[in-house]
Amino acid sequence: MIYSPSIACARQLHLFEDIEELARAGVDLLHIDIMDGHYVPNISLSPDTCREIKNEFPGMKLDVHLMVTNPMDYISRFSEIGAAYLTFHIGATDFAHRTITKIKESGMKAGVTINPGEPLVLLEPILGLVDMVLLMAIEPGFSGQRFIVPSLDRIRALDVMRKEKDASFLINADGGINSINGKQCLDAGADILVLGVFACFNQPEGITASLNKFDKAMRG
Ligand code: DX5
Ligand code: ZN
Repeated sequence: MIYSPSIACARQLHLFEDIEELARAGVDLLHIDIMDGHYVPNISLSPDTCREIKNEFPGMKLDVHLMVTNPMDYISRFSEIGAAYLTFHIGATDFAHRTITKIKESGMKAGVTINPGEPLVLLEPILGLVDMVLLMAIEPGFSGQRFIVPSLDRIRALDVMRKEKDASFLINADGGINSINGKQCLDAGADILVLGVFACFNQPEGITASLNKFDKAMRG
């Protein structure tokens, strides 16, 4: 199983230290929430911050979650930064094929994100093309929201679609993940868990201890 801690949930004035601690704890994938204040009513992290993170932590893979209205406009910038995954919301563009193709041609793995209120069938035409499906278990835009429980059935359904299509995309569960629903997501077929304030940030025991506790619960 792979964890992708969401650094939008880290201490923004101590971002370097928090990422350093994540790296020491063995994390090699960072979830980067990019919010444009238009697709979602919030603004978070700039491409320049991402570039500095990549320069300071070259071994870290960036799992970039674009919550923006024109994902096409950001592809070359995140390619130049060296993002590993670039994920866009299926409802944020009318041209998913063209977006996926441009992401891949730019040297990144392509991901698509779907919100809790969007039917999985929207993904049907592109499941054979993407490297990752980021399944939102909350409405995008804010961390700290409660996990929407029917997301587990959606992960199971997505896993069935993956098998039926003999597709190889990773399922990444994002939003409200804790040590109970995280294990349920993995059992339902998720490969990656985005960790936020219920898993490793804002915890009394700090990042390392809460990560170890969470990991123990996942292996339990
Ligand atoms: C929400 C983001 C999520 C969020 C996860 O818009 O996409 O990645 O930060 O944090 P938690 O797990 O606290 O919801
Ligand atoms: Zn996210």
